[in-house]
Amino acid sequence: MSAAIKRSPQSFIILTYGCQMNVRDSETMAGLLNMAGMTETGALEEADVVILNTCGVRHSAENKVFGKLGEIKKMKKEKPETLIAVGGCMSQLADARKKLTQLGADVVFGPNNISELPELIKQVSENSRPVVKIMETIDIEKEKLPARHKPGISAFVNVMYGCNNFCSYCVVPYTRGRERSRGSADIIDEIRNLAGQGYKEITLLGQNVNSYGSGLKEKITFAGLLAKLQDIEGIKRFRFTTSHPKDISDELIEVIGAYDKICNHIHMPLQAGSDQILRAMNRGYDTGQYLQLIDKIRMAVPEAAITSDLIVGFPGEEDGDFEDTLEMVERIRFDAAFIFMYSPRGGTKAAAMDKQVPLQVKKDRINLLLERQYAIAAEINKSLENTVQEVLVEGFSKTDPGKLTARTGTNRIVNFTGPDTLSGQTIAVKITHSGTFSLLGEMCQ
Ligand code: SAH
Ligand code: SF4
Ligand code: F3S
Repeated sequence: MSAAIKRSPQSFIILTYGCQMNVRDSETMAGLLNMAGMTETGALEEADVVILNTCGVRHSAENKVFGKLGEIKKMKKEKPETLIAVGGCMSQLADARKKLTQLGADVVFGPNNISELPELIKQVSENSRPVVKIMETIDIEKEKLPARHKPGISAFVNVMYGCNNFCSYCVVPYTRGRERSRGSADIIDEIRNLAGQGYKEITLLGQNVNSYGSGLKEKITFAGLLAKLQDIEGIKRFRFTTSHPKDISDELIEVIGAYDKICNHIHMPLQAGSDQILRAMNRGYDTGQYLQLIDKIRMAVPEAAITSDLIVGFPGEEDGDFEDTLEMVERIRFDAAFIFMYSPRGGTKAAAMDKQVPLQVKKDRINLLLERQYAIAAEINKSLENTVQEVLVEGFSKTDPGKLTARTGTNRIVNFTGPDTLSGQTIAVKITHSGTFSLLGEMCQ
């Protein structure tokens, strides 16, 4: 260990894994460390403190972090004063936490201990003994922490934390604790502030935004909250994720149709297309109810994009169950979907279930499903060629140098040639080419 090393860390870097919740939490960490007088650097080798904000949702997510820790440890040989702090969901999971400390993390802190990060870094700098700070209960104060949002067009705002759903495969209820909503006045304040800083698009975050409001003193639903946000000046678009299918209300569908600023995009993960598997997943709906919901949304908001998450190889998934998923995907035609191989997570119900599916079967199934879903997405995108789409310009593209990148309300990426001064503006673009994941266009004169 590095007991003799004297440290006074000045700079930090945050490597973020996992979902948008973590992206938002990393912004809070950066805000707090800035306030404590530290500056962020873009280069790993330069940072006095390397912070990993981790995800534990799948084994592969954890492996990425373990791999990175190995890399940083090598780097530490050259620069032993570097401190490693690991936060995020893995820190909250007992098995992963143990491994993190074994792998040389100097600070391990839970998603509910972010407010203590500057103090924990100070502590370990002074006495060089690793510290672990995890909270079993929940930090309600989190919402009042300062965040330093990355400069840009689009920002994330939490409307709630945690999750009560306990889908049988999922660690999130264990890492993020019980569901709790933020008061609407807090949310409105934060968005007004972001509007004042020039942000144009807000994505409202929650593991299940549709149950927003439960447990609050004020009587408010998610649809009611969305309606309340509409007259915040300067914000052009509102997005939200994720919508649990079991809690999507008619009121929400109405509100999406009624307000122009609410993007016509609903991410509502189906997870599986077999009723037997959905039951074992504890999802709280069956395929019939899901299809009814799709019909309702498409009747009320025909142009809405519907996207999904899907899991293949859940315990007990037979060929017939998987074919049901393929059939649902063909029938619904999702605009896009994230598809995962089931990954057993310690402490969840599904990890202890019989009939775990062999890896090779999972691989075969994911390949088949990806192929089908990609073909469908490409077909839908093709149908948009020669149409004119309203897009919000985000800035220069990272993948298509020299081009601007923008997004349709339905969450499609459109790249096109134009001046950077268009960033933050909503403009009309004619689609000239389409691919599976993005579109090319040209500005309408
Ligand atoms: N709250 C969101 C999803 C959060 S996790 C919701 O309910 O939709 C994001 C996605 O990861 C899930 O939708 C699910 O498809 C996937 N996922 C979660 N746990 C998983 C596991 N153990 N193995 C594989 N995929 C998993
Ligand atoms: Fe996990 Fe289910 Fe909660 Fe989503 S709703 S975070 S999948 S337990
Ligand atoms: Fe998100 Fe991963 Fe945690 S998906 S909530 S960072 S386990």
